[in-house]
Amino acid sequence: MKVLVVGSGGREHALAWAISRSPLLTELHAAPGNPGIAALAHCHPVRANDVGPLAAELRPDLVVVGPEAPLVAGLADELRQRGIAVFGPSAAAARIEGSKTFAKDVMDAAGVPNARTLAVARPPCVVKLDGLAAGKGVWVCHTQEELDAALSEAREPFHLEELLEGPELSVFALAAGDEAVAFPPARDYKRIGDGDTGPNTGGMGTVSPLPDVADEESQAILETVHRPVLRELARRGAPFHGLLYAGLMRTDDGMRVIEFNCRFGDPETQSLLPRLESDVLPLLAGELSELEISPRAAVTVVLAGGDYPAQGDSGTPIDGVEEAEATGALVFHAGTALHDGRLVTNGGRILNVTATGDTVADARAAAYDAAAHIHFAGVHYRKDIANG
Ligand code: AMP
Ligand code: GLY
Repeated sequence: MKVLVVGSGGREHALAWAISRSPLLTELHAAPGNPGIAALAHCHPVRANDVGPLAAELRPDLVVVGPEAPLVAGLADELRQRGIAVFGPSAAAARIEGSKTFAKDVMDAAGVPNARTLAVARPPCVVKLDGLAAGKGVWVCHTQEELDAALSEAREPFHLEELLEGPELSVFALAAGDEAVAFPPARDYKRIGDGDTGPNTGGMGTVSPLPDVADEESQAILETVHRPVLRELARRGAPFHGLLYAGLMRTDDGMRVIEFNCRFGDPETQSLLPRLESDVLPLLAGELSELEISPRAAVTVVLAGGDYPAQGDSGTPIDGVEEAEATGALVFHAGTALHDGRLVTNGGRILNVTATGDTVADARAAAYDAAAHIHFAGVHYRKDIANG
């Protein structure tokens, strides 16, 4: 199979890595890709939203779309209209991520437990922007001061919902209309600082399996969360093909959905794909079968630069990636570039270091050992990923 991966981050590098291991692969392309992906694929300097003409020229057997923005903008529809097979939902189905109001409406119609909408702005509550906000559209307000700050920052339209409490987890389902299979749960460490302190980020590290939610529990979550939503989307004439990501909170009242995404999570994917023993390509092509998952654990540590999440960094030389890889770890590029053949920073989250091990503790130790080999001015990462 000739495959084109769309996107340029750590998630797309992990997807390209998993695809490159498939015996079915004959040719791998990426748009725009990154220096890590370039070791596995032919990279085309085309922005994700503009890949229609490139795909028409390459005629791949499958296009795998990584990020949400092009899906919400209708890239999968455009490609299907051109007769090209796509992993990723139509714009109509991607609204499950693109509009929080739509997601809420679908969940309520499907009877899927989620946070109640509140009519009155009073703490504790959560302020959420309706549209895509790249992880920056949510204010969790425990106090009146936090709520006042959120309301002055939030651009309309937003809504208010009940503040839920409990451990968070992500459960991904590969879906082809009515059919769906689930990955085991993963956990994303969203805050910048150790001990879950400081501002939210795109994700500072991930682990799978979880100490508190067994791999097998994904099956029950698939039945009670993903399947009802997939049925409701199909009923509305928007069948979902691609990856349906449920962000969940295990509250005292049971599992509740915090959000849906219409694509693989970043950086959960970097910990989940190394555990996948099945050939990923038939799955991405919509031929679903139960996933074979390794009992081994995987831990991903995100190396950030500059004063991320306030600001990223560019052009700072990076050393030690090969040394990190020589330990047996995977180093996925998230925000890097090549300047005159030299690897440099180019973003907020720069590299993702993933290691596997017999236990979470082993995987964690291996990931941190590998990360310690990597150096660039301003590098910072959490030291407590997968630490309970
Ligand atoms: P999201 O952008 O929807 O992923 O939300 C970002 C983070 O905000 C989530 O990972 C949660 O930690 C938090 N969050 C979102 N909604 C709620 C809620 N209803 N109650 C408590 N925390 C929430
Ligand atoms: N890891 C959070 C996300 O992908 O949205």
